[in-house]
Parts: sequence; C-alpha cells; structure tokens
Amino acid sequence: MAEAVTVEVQNGIAIVTIANPPVNALGHEVRKGLDAAADRIAGDADILAAVIRAEGATFPAGADIGEFPDVPAPFHGDVFDKIEALEKPVVAAMHGTALGGGLELALGCHYRVAAEGSKMGLPEVQLGLLPGARGTQRLPRLIGAEAALGMMLTGKPIDAAKALKAGLIDKIVPAGEQDKAAIEMATALMAQDAPLPRASQDSEWTAKDRSDPALFDRIRETHGRLFRGVIAPDAIVTCVKAAVELPFAQGIEVETSEFTRLLTSDQSRALIHVFFAMRDTAKVPGIGKETPLIDIKSVGIIGAGTMGGGIAMCFANAGIPVKLVEVKAEALERGLGVIRRNYENTAKKGRLTDDQVESLTGLITGTLDMDDLADVDLVIEAVFESMEVKEKVFSRLDAIAKPGAILASNTSFLDIDHIAALTRRPEMVLGLHFFSPANVMPLLEVVRGDKSSDSVIATGMKLGKTLRKTPVLARVCDGFIANRLMFPYLVASQNMLLRGTPMQEIDAAMKQYGFAMGPIALLDLIGLDVITFPGEVTMTGELVKAERRGQKLNGGFYDYDEKRRGTPAPAALEIVEKVRTANGIEAAPPLTADEVLTGLLYPVVNEGAKILEEGIALRAGDIDVTAILGYNWPSYQGGPMCWADIHGLPKIVEGLKAMGIEPAKLLAEKAASGGSFT
Ligand code: 3HC
Ligand code: NAI
Repeated sequence: MAEAVTVEVQNGIAIVTIANPPVNALGHEVRKGLDAAADRIAGDADILAAVIRAEGATFPAGADIGEFPDVPAPFHGDVFDKIEALEKPVVAAMHGTALGGGLELALGCHYRVAAEGSKMGLPEVQLGLLPGARGTQRLPRLIGAEAALGMMLTGKPIDAAKALKAGLIDKIVPAGEQDKAAIEMATALMAQDAPLPRASQDSEWTAKDRSDPALFDRIRETHGRLFRGVIAPDAIVTCVKAAVELPFAQGIEVETSEFTRLLTSDQSRALIHVFFAMRDTAKVPGIGKETPLIDIKSVGIIGAGTMGGGIAMCFANAGIPVKLVEVKAEALERGLGVIRRNYENTAKKGRLTDDQVESLTGLITGTLDMDDLADVDLVIEAVFESMEVKEKVFSRLDAIAKPGAILASNTSFLDIDHIAALTRRPEMVLGLHFFSPANVMPLLEVVRGDKSSDSVIATGMKLGKTLRKTPVLARVCDGFIANRLMFPYLVASQNMLLRGTPMQEIDAAMKQYGFAMGPIALLDLIGLDVITFPGEVTMTGELVKAERRGQKLNGGFYDYDEKRRGTPAPAALEIVEKVRTANGIEAAPPLTADEVLTGLLYPVVNEGAKILEEGIALRAGDIDVTAILGYNWPSYQGGPMCWADIHGLPKIVEGLKAMGIEPAKLLAEKAASGGSFT
C-alpha cells in the first residue's frame, strides 16, 4: 500500500502530501505520517517552510469516521498543535471539501490557500459530534464566535469566496493551482522571517466577543431549531464559550472533554450508523459497475394524481422529458394545473425564475392516449391502488411500449410479480415506489420482482441518484420495507387510543422521541381515506364515513385551524367512544409516555426483524434509512433497528411477549446470543 503521507523537499520547502483515498480521511496512518512530518520539518535544518497538500479529489474531508469511537494516538488535535507550533511557515493548499478534521488541520497551519470553488465546513454536528481537534477553539479566534458557531451548529460548508471574506483563508486561486500557489507563498514567507500568525492566539475577535454579553443568547435565538432533541449543539456552545472566555490551553481541555462525551453517546453512535447506512443502500450484491445500465432519456407516467404529478416533477427537475397519461381530460388538466402551481409557488419564494417554470412545465406533456408511450424508455404507472385497474393498464402497456422499455409500478402494497406476469417482459418490470409528496421526499424504494433483470435493478438504483433521492432495494411483499415497517406503528397507536390513552398524549410521547408529529396526527396527514379499506368498521372508517378525511378534508382525529394546528376533534372523540363500545373494549388508565413509546416502537422493531429475515431488505441499515427518509424517523435515534440495538434486544423481546406479540425469530436469536442488527 502506498504511504498515506509523504514528504518531498524542494528548494527548502517540505511538500507534505496526504494520499488516503477516497476522501483523504485522517485515519491513524495519516495522523502518524503528519506527526512524523512535523518532527522532520522541525528537525531538518534544510527545511525552511512547508506546504500541506492532498492527492486526489479533496483536501481531507475529516477524521476517519469508521475509526470512531476508538481513536488511537496520536490524536488529531495534538498533531495539529505540533504543526502550528513549528517555527517555520506552514501553508495549507486546499481543494475539494476541507471538512471537519480536514479544516481543523488547515486551521493548525499558519496560512491557507484554497482552490476556487472549494468548500470548507465543520459538519461534525451531523454526526452528533463537535469539532474535536481544536476547531471550536481556533475558528472563533479566526473569524469570530458568531460566524464560527453558524458553521458548527448548521454543519453546512461555505465556499472559498465566503471563507476568504470571513478571514478563514488567505487566498483563492484558480482550481488546480493551489499547490503551486502555496509553494509560491511558502517561498516568499521563507525569505521574510516575519512572525507567524497562529489561530490559537487571541485575536481582535476574542476581545470583541468578550465584550458582547448577548452573544450566546442571540445564537440560541437564531439557531433554536437546531438544538431540539440533540445534545451536540449545546456542547458546541459550551466549547465556543470557553474559546471566548478562557486561554487556549484551558479551552482545549473543555473541547476534549465534551468531544469524548459526545463520541461515546448514543446519539453519535446512531448518527454515524446513519452516515454509513445512507451510503450502503446503493450497494447491491451481484450488481456492479459492469452491470449494463439502460439509458433513460424519456419517461411516461400513467395517472396524473397525487403521485403521478409529483413523480413527473422529479423527472422534469432532472431534465428528463415526461409524457403524462390520464383517462379523462379534466383529470389531466387538474394534474397539469397542480404541477404548474407547485412550480409557480416555488418561483414566488424566489427559488425558480419565470423562465425556469416555463422550461420545467415544458418538459411535461399531457396526453389521453396511452399509445403515445410507444417510444419512451421507462413507464411508471401511478393509477388507483387497485389490482384490477393495474392489470388492465399493464396488459395494454406491454403491447404499446417499445421492446427494451422498463415498466414500473408505484404501487404501495400490490404484488409486483403478479403485475410482471401480465406482460411478456417480466424481466423489464420492477417497482419504483415514491413517497408523498414525490417531488420532495428523498426516498425511492426500488422493488425487485422475482424476474427483474440485474440491468433493470441497476437502472432503478441509478435513477434514485439521477432524481437526487436515496434508493433502497426491497423485495416483493405487502408494503415493501417502509410501509410494512410502519404499519404496526399506526395500528398500535389506534389501539392505544381505543384503550383509553388520549390522542394528544400518544402524539406527544412520539414527538418527545423526536418525530415531527405523532402517529395519530400522521394518520390525519396521510389521509384517512388512503389507509382505510372500504367497508371497514374502524375509527378511520367511521371518520371517513363522516366525511372527515384528515388534514385535506374537514379534519380527522383532530380539527385543524388555519395554521394547521390540531385540537382533538369532538366528532372524533365520539367515534372513538362508539368503536370502543362496539368492540366491547373497556377504557383503561392512560399509558405513560414511556409505555406509549415501547408499545409503539417494539412492534416496529419486530416487523423490521421479519423484513430482514425474509430477505425483503438487504440489511438492517436499509430499514433504518427507509424509516428516516420515508417516515421522518429522527435520525439521531438511528432508525428502528439501530435504536433497538442501543435500547437492548432482550428488553424488546420481553416487552413484546408481555404485549402478547410473538417475537420474530431473528430478533429472538439475536437477543439470546447477545447479537445486534447494525
Ligand atoms: N471517514 C470515513 N469514510 C468517509 C469519510 C470520513 N470522514 N467521508 C467519506 N467517507 C467514505 C464514504 O463512506 C464513502 O465510502 P463508500 O464509497 O465505501 O461508501 C466514500 O468515502 C465516498 O464518500 P461519499 O459517497 O459521501 O462521496 P461524495 O463525493 O458524495 O461526498 C464528502 C464526499 C462531501 C467528503 C462526503 O463524504 C462527506 O460529507 N463526508 C463526511 C465529512 C464529515 O462528516 N467530516 C467530519 C468527520 S468527524 C471529524 O472530523 C471529527 C474531528 O473534528 C475530530
Ligand atoms: P390518485 O387517486 O391521486 O391518482 C390516481 C390517478 O390515476 C387519477 O388521477 C386517475 O384519474 C388516474 N387513472 C386511473 N386509471 C387510469 C388509467 N387507466 N389511465 C390513466 N390514468 C388513470 O392516487 P395516488 O395517491 O396518486 O396513488 C397512485 C398510486 O401511487 C397508487 O398505486 C398508490 O398506492 C401509490 N402511492 C400513493 C402514495 C400516496 O401517499 N398517495 C404514496 C406512494 C404510492
């Protein structure tokens, strides 16, 4: 293996090169290499200055996350301190994305040169961490506490131009010229013998921030939303406060202790799991770069309703022309109208120009004639959720679509294999399951039928990326991964309501856990008609009968005001009472928040275990990703499977038994053997 860090001396300048593909993460070998390089620079009289640069796509994008929580010495911060302490000028030559520990390395250098278009950021908060290699101490001294906190609390990178303005970097040069420019800068500095600027030294900013007593309150006010549920933001504020108020040496003690606390927290364990899980979903065994992809240059969508319209927008946004088919002219007009209004609303918010609205809507052509789909590369069916209707559509479509065209269904629950069997090309059929609103939600379930070819699946997965969504592969079953997983959650919440726990308490418990809304409010949002099968005598069935369909029509379990704030609806409470009596259920004392939580989440974990043991999902992480992206499961809880591991599988098995639910085989096995899902 090539060395992770090499040093080459040219004309008195040590050129330190980091080479650790793909993102030059600062793993153990890199830290050891940088540490040794610093020693060499200090000790070699022929070296008068140094440049730290990186090979490949980017300056280091951070610590090696895969190493966490165990970080063998030398530690990042100690190495960067050693670099800063050198009495010879050190210039960082940055390109790509200098993130996390990568940016902290650059902050340890005396000067920073960056390629145009490169980005700098401290995204640790997104992993439940804080910049733990002196970032919380150096950055506030360099650009002021407020700007530094903005970067650390949001985790969002800024571009080189903004970084230059803020004083984070010293110079921008055209892309590809950063090494040359850094060497030139080092050469000039070598001759000057001027005092070296060090970001650990108190600055004008330190004095200014110290005399601003409202600083930290203002930060909490501006970024209040970012503090909800998560522990890292508070720790970041604590560290930056230390940077403002204490000498550097004491500040780094605060930083180290807070970083260590976060690194061993459940939240960072969960968020690091999510980081890797999000990237793993794209990996499908047996499918690789050699699997031929089918070129998708045009698309047909059947059904211009809620989903068809949203899906059409996804393709238009990706620049792919769409033919949108409806049965009736009114439905088509309505569908196209909704699409146009959506784009116009985005334009009103200033996020699209009028010209863009025209070109996007121009990519979507409506038609009442399915024959118009004869030349498209992919057709997605989004008609009513009825097998009878879908059977008719697919039989006809197969005769119309050109050979080689992929035929997909957006069905939520129906059998893709049955649909495939209606065609003469079952190998070209798959499920492409979007989530509502399709133009917004970031998840795409790619459903593999028994006969779907590798090429079709590879193309489906690639499509996820093209549409800027995270694709997750699922096998055929009722509800695939996300809907099947969450079905028990929605059922259990209704049972709790029937058994006497008030809806607002059920919802509050799950909001406390981190969901944006609780399950009962979620039912109202999804639409009670969508989840009720005709003829059902259930609470949702009765509500639909009373013309209460949820948020979209007359309210559902809740009544909604003009700001969409819900209060338990008297009409719904009557229906709860009626269904309770009809089923001979006696209301019990309300459950505690903790009982609500376990009563709702244990069944989800159990379903997840079944999904995994049946091979519906490839891995536990894929289940977590569908819950997070499809149902807004709080990512800092890691998704249901990671949460289960942290919570304790034996406890869940016992809890399920106490609820009268048979634990899934895989769950029981893992609990008994001390195993875990993630
Ligand atoms: N450590 C370990 N692996 C990493 C990594 C990191 N910091 N960053 C990326 N990778 C891996 C990914 O897992 C992926 O692996 P795979 O190919 O096996 O799936 C591969 O590198 C490529 O990553 P992406 O698919 O994300 O590539 P992109 O080109 O889309 O994005 C990126 C590149 C913008 C650098 C993005 O990977 C990223 O945001 N990385 C994480 C940055 C980050 O969070 N840094 C902070 C780390 S914590 C820290 O530094 C603590 C310090 O304060 C002490
Ligand atoms: P919808 O009722 O809003 O739209 C269906 C549209 O299909 C209607 O406009 C109808 O006129 C049209 N249609 C019916 N038969 C047709 C035919 N033969 N040819 C052309 N158009 C036809 O339904 P929605 O909600 O968009 O659902 C569509 C599909 O997407 C269903 O299979 C549903 O299960 C699935 N889905 C729905 C989600 C949701 O939240 N609404 C989420 C994910 C999937």
